[in-house]
Amino acid sequence: MSTPQILDVIADPKLLTIAADALRSGEVVAFPTETVYGLGAHALDEDAVRKIFEIKGRPPTNPLIVHVASVEAARELVREWPPEADALAEAFWPGPLTMILPRNPAIPDIVTAGLDSVGIRVPSHSVAQRLLELAGVPVAAPSANPYMGVSPTCAQHVSQGLPGLKYIVDAGPCSVGLESTVISLVGAPRILRPGMVTLSMIRRILPTVEVADDSVAEGQAAMSPGLAQKHYSPKARVMIAPPSARAMLKGNRVGVILRKSATPTETILDALAITLPNDAQGYARGLYAALHDLDSQGCETIIIEPPPHDDEWTAVWNRIKRAAD
Ligand code: TXA
Ligand code: MG
Repeated sequence: MSTPQILDVIADPKLLTIAADALRSGEVVAFPTETVYGLGAHALDEDAVRKIFEIKGRPPTNPLIVHVASVEAARELVREWPPEADALAEAFWPGPLTMILPRNPAIPDIVTAGLDSVGIRVPSHSVAQRLLELAGVPVAAPSANPYMGVSPTCAQHVSQGLPGLKYIVDAGPCSVGLESTVISLVGAPRILRPGMVTLSMIRRILPTVEVADDSVAEGQAAMSPGLAQKHYSPKARVMIAPPSARAMLKGNRVGVILRKSATPTETILDALAITLPNDAQGYARGLYAALHDLDSQGCETIIIEPPPHDDEWTAVWNRIKRAAD
């Protein structure tokens, strides 16, 4: 198996045209966004999109998010553009928010898993923006990890997880670090997946927004399959517990994820400890790299020190609980 060609667009911005040409001609390309790296394909090319599912090992019942460079391009993907979409786009696009809207029938069924709606996002990452502009086509992209794995926040995570890929656009680590907030505007506005655009940020724009009940969402897999249990999981067993709980795990290779200034590292003794910042943004930015790191160092168990319970930590809690389930 050949290894992926890493297109270092920081060193040589011209390499981005290779990725744009590949996308236009129906190839799959991994690329950076501000949230996580995506595995992109021409969204209107059914055969190209099928390759995404094959490469990830993702079941065809999981719909993909379509990425475009502008609100104008987003409007072409839908049948209706409600006033709520304008308000959210104005507040949060380009950025880490995905809107679910009634789909334009031109979008192949494979993209939306046959649903009558489509997820759309305008990413803010300058490389993603330029790539979408150069490609000139909407790009369907899930996170660029094998199905059920931890999302990649740098090009190395992508090449380790999906070694059979042809191209990876490398622009360094992602700044947000967790997948986008997903909000449905089909019917009353509902948050299907929490992200770093938080409930309180959205409430300022749409005061009536609700949060979808997780258990209901899981019962209806197609509603937002990202909410399925056992997602975002490293190979190691994950526990959310005070770091002192590692005493129970003698003989295990243990990794610990701490928050800066929450627990003094000297109490951690011989475990592999990674300390993340104590603010939600900094923690989110580093979480997946910490999980990837401890996994690749062969940890059998990863203990995550419980973060605070404020609104801005909701997305972090959502991801670590799913990693631990
Ligand atoms: O930040 C992100 O959103 C990243 C980057 C690459 O943009 N992408 C990402 O894609 O996380 P993925 O495929 O891993 O997660 C997409 C989520 C899933 O939870 C899926 O169920 C939901 O979006 N989704 C997509 N289309 C939908 C639809 N029509 N109705 C309901 N949920 C949908
Ligand atoms: Mg994913």
